[in-house]
Amino acid sequence: MKNIPHDNTLDSSISLLLEGYPFLKKRMEDHQTDIFQTRLLGEKVICIHGKEAAALFYDNAYFWREGVLPKRVQQTLMGKNGVQMLDGEAHRHRKALFMSFMSRDRIDDLMGLMLRYWRAYARKWEKMERVVLFDEAREVLCLAACEWAGVPLKPTEVREHAQEYIEMIYGFGGATTRYWRGIHARNVSEKWNKKIIEDIRSRKLEVPENSAAYQIAWFRDLDGELLDLHVATVELMNVVRPIVAIATYVAFSALALHEHPEQVEKIRTGEEKYAQLFVQEVRRFYPFTPFLGARPHRDFEWKGHQFKEGTLVLLDVFGMLHDPEMWPDPYAFKPERFTEWSGSPFDFIPQGGGDHYTGHRCAGEWITIKAMKVALQFLTQEVKYIVPEQDLEVDIHKMPTLPKSGFEISDVQYTG
Ligand code: HEM
Repeated sequence: MKNIPHDNTLDSSISLLLEGYPFLKKRMEDHQTDIFQTRLLGEKVICIHGKEAAALFYDNAYFWREGVLPKRVQQTLMGKNGVQMLDGEAHRHRKALFMSFMSRDRIDDLMGLMLRYWRAYARKWEKMERVVLFDEAREVLCLAACEWAGVPLKPTEVREHAQEYIEMIYGFGGATTRYWRGIHARNVSEKWNKKIIEDIRSRKLEVPENSAAYQIAWFRDLDGELLDLHVATVELMNVVRPIVAIATYVAFSALALHEHPEQVEKIRTGEEKYAQLFVQEVRRFYPFTPFLGARPHRDFEWKGHQFKEGTLVLLDVFGMLHDPEMWPDPYAFKPERFTEWSGSPFDFIPQGGGDHYTGHRCAGEWITIKAMKVALQFLTQEVKYIVPEQDLEVDIHKMPTLPKSGFEISDVQYTG
């Protein structure tokens, strides 16, 4: 049996908070390895890296998710007892519900709504001195997501609810203030979403049958019962919240356009095909998910290393997206590199790997890619703007992160 290299500190939780995204990658490089052991919050953790590691991590015969999400992630980002925490048949059954929202027609409906709101917002921006693109994007996405999902939302309420979703997302990795804001935002938002499920079930609220809100409210679990009210609430939020989160990738896309102005013309002339390459490179280049966790549900051996049932195992997502062997010159922004990509489900995993239906890979990956393309076409072809002096640094020591200014633009002209 081979020894797994150890991180030689008693506990690395503080280092993880301070170092942020590169925490795992740095240690993989220091030990010249694709596996090492550390301690986080007092618990032994095995960290793994690479395509083979991802294939192992997503093999349901070895790993499950029970007991993986730390309390702070449940209290802010994810909520309790949603699809992310299920395994086996129960997971497959619930995941099918999410994947049923992902038909081409339903995604096209959502994209149509997004474009409509982008255009309406552009007209508003013409009258504004400075526009923080991230803040505006989250409202556009929240309006479109709620309308699409059957969640009633007045335009006057959008700022508040979009903000709550963002605070949940940005809360889990934060120190005290950000964390407490995340918890508060989840509590407020759960109350709002719970009322929607209740009103649908009591037929006080009528929503389209093909909407996520309707489908979730009336979904029956494997036992034939409706979902527990709290679980249904969490699942409805699991649809709208991550659509709002795409605002982060919109801000990163705008930053990439600004820092690589030659890309603008390529997108304009290359149409859908080049936009696809660009969007993939944004998802590779800019940090979002740092790592993912799972636990072996039995003892096994992998590459001569012993894995014990129940040990927390982290897959190095950020490190894999910046691994020079997988992505030569990883810190260069080169959309063309994706013309060579094999399409493997295990080497490009910004939203998880493996299979969307049978595994935990992100249910909304197709929506994310299409929404980024809609935003990109809009930004490059329907508006003109200036990027004024501002702090655009992306601090990779903070998880999750953003361009510091949120990406400000001015002198907006709608030309669409
Ligand atoms: C799961 C990232 C957008 C719904 C995940 C996972 C990641 C992720 C890393 C976990 C994969 C795993 O555990 O193996 C992202 C990012 C997004 C995004 C970076 C873009 C901002 C979306 C959208 C939706 C969505 C737009 C839905 C409309 C879900 C659901 C799961 C999930 C339901 C749980 C899947 C499961 O456990 O089986 N996402 N996601 N996500 N995502 Fe996304």
